[in-house]
Amino acid sequence: MSNQWSKKQEAWSARFNEPMSELVKRYTASVFFDKRLAEFDIQGSLAHATMLAEAGVIAASDLQAIQNGMSQILSEIKAGQFTWQLDLEDVHLNIERRLTELVGDAGKRLHTGRSRNDQVATDIRLFLRHEVDRIQGLLKVLIKALITVAERNHDTVMPGFTHLQVAQPVTFGHHLLAYAEMFERDLERMHDCRKRINRLPLGAAALAGTTFPINRNRTAELLEFDAPTRNSLDSVSDRDFAIEFCSASSILMMHVSRLSEELIIWMSQRYAFIDLPDRFCTGSSIMPQKKNPDVPELARGKTGRVYGHLMGLLTLMKGQPLAYNKDNQEDKEPLFDTVDTVVDTLTIFAEMVEGIQVKADNMRAATLEGYATATDLADALVKRGMPFRDAHEAVARAVRYCDTQQCGLEALTVAQLQEALKLTELGYSDDLVNQELCAVLTLEGSLQARNHIGGTNPGQVMAAAAAARQRLGL
Ligand code: ARG
Repeated sequence: MSNQWSKKQEAWSARFNEPMSELVKRYTASVFFDKRLAEFDIQGSLAHATMLAEAGVIAASDLQAIQNGMSQILSEIKAGQFTWQLDLEDVHLNIERRLTELVGDAGKRLHTGRSRNDQVATDIRLFLRHEVDRIQGLLKVLIKALITVAERNHDTVMPGFTHLQVAQPVTFGHHLLAYAEMFERDLERMHDCRKRINRLPLGAAALAGTTFPINRNRTAELLEFDAPTRNSLDSVSDRDFAIEFCSASSILMMHVSRLSEELIIWMSQRYAFIDLPDRFCTGSSIMPQKKNPDVPELARGKTGRVYGHLMGLLTLMKGQPLAYNKDNQEDKEPLFDTVDTVVDTLTIFAEMVEGIQVKADNMRAATLEGYATATDLADALVKRGMPFRDAHEAVARAVRYCDTQQCGLEALTVAQLQEALKLTELGYSDDLVNQELCAVLTLEGSLQARNHIGGTNPGQVMAAAAAARQRLGL
């Protein structure tokens, strides 16, 4: 084995007269976080070597040696036996050095027609493509959980709120399917983002391309990229795909955070709409009675760090001239943390959502508290010929009447409703008020009446759930 590396460890060492201080080494190194890319780095190197051999740039025997060496390195890494060295700066140089140790000159030929600049851009894309596929799978599991609980509660009445004031009756199933819609849009965004991740930068080399007769289409094919990137300068400097991913993740976490906020509110004693399984909650070290919704609270909190990573990456890129700059090394930690936060959150939420325990009686009682069917009454008067503004005014009077009587609209008799609406004062006959009109004031009547696409009618909720299952193959 011929190992011609100079005594100094660095790959570029001959140019330099003095060694780096330990602090500068640590400051510039990325190996302790980018070693996470090792598997993808090897995958990219094997495709590059295969292409080089096919193009006659390296010998078939070199390719064979590289393949053997890489397979050993992969097992060493998987077994936790690989020695990562700070002196070797990053994942790329660590693996290349080990390869050369194992197979000699063939290892030193691997970097022909390539730079760490196009290499790292390729690694991150391979990594992110893998993670985006995983996240799409997890989103589907969460959506499925929401649909399952929605179906179970397709006719469970709860107050629908605007301004956090009781507005109109809805079903809990309908409410949950609103979140299924949000997460389905997130799925679309991930899918769309994947298209721009899935391009091969390898071949751009340092920035200007290479003098070797490379076949970028072949490397793209080997790595299952849709196509090579089109401009070498852009290839090594572009991190749009990472920013897009963090943007899609931020929107996703915003949805998680809104759901969390509702779960927290619903679980408080003031609402008591739901309970969450104990395994997603914790107690208090001082108050023995406490059961706190820690998981949703943490998810709401972790949303902040994902937004932060988006801002971090945008700021990282904003001042960079073409092409590659070392600034780019700072792209990895925010990206990794975004992936980890999203993956963990989705995994936990899918299970937690399935475990929501619904307190249907409390939801119903709360719906009866806020005159939730007042709009139904106004609509019914309109159907009897009254212009909507007059109907609105009459019902507002009825609500004030109920306020003084301390009762709900649905509790009024025909005579009381006539007295409450005071239709004659507005120039209409009291005959408009009969038993049939009283019937529209029930919660079930209100739900049933909203029977159209996107409405809260229990049948529509079941249909929406079935359509979502069909669309997503769930
Ligand atoms: N560790 C580097 C990064 O993450 C790899 C590319 C280094 N390229 C260079 N010319 N120093 O960006």
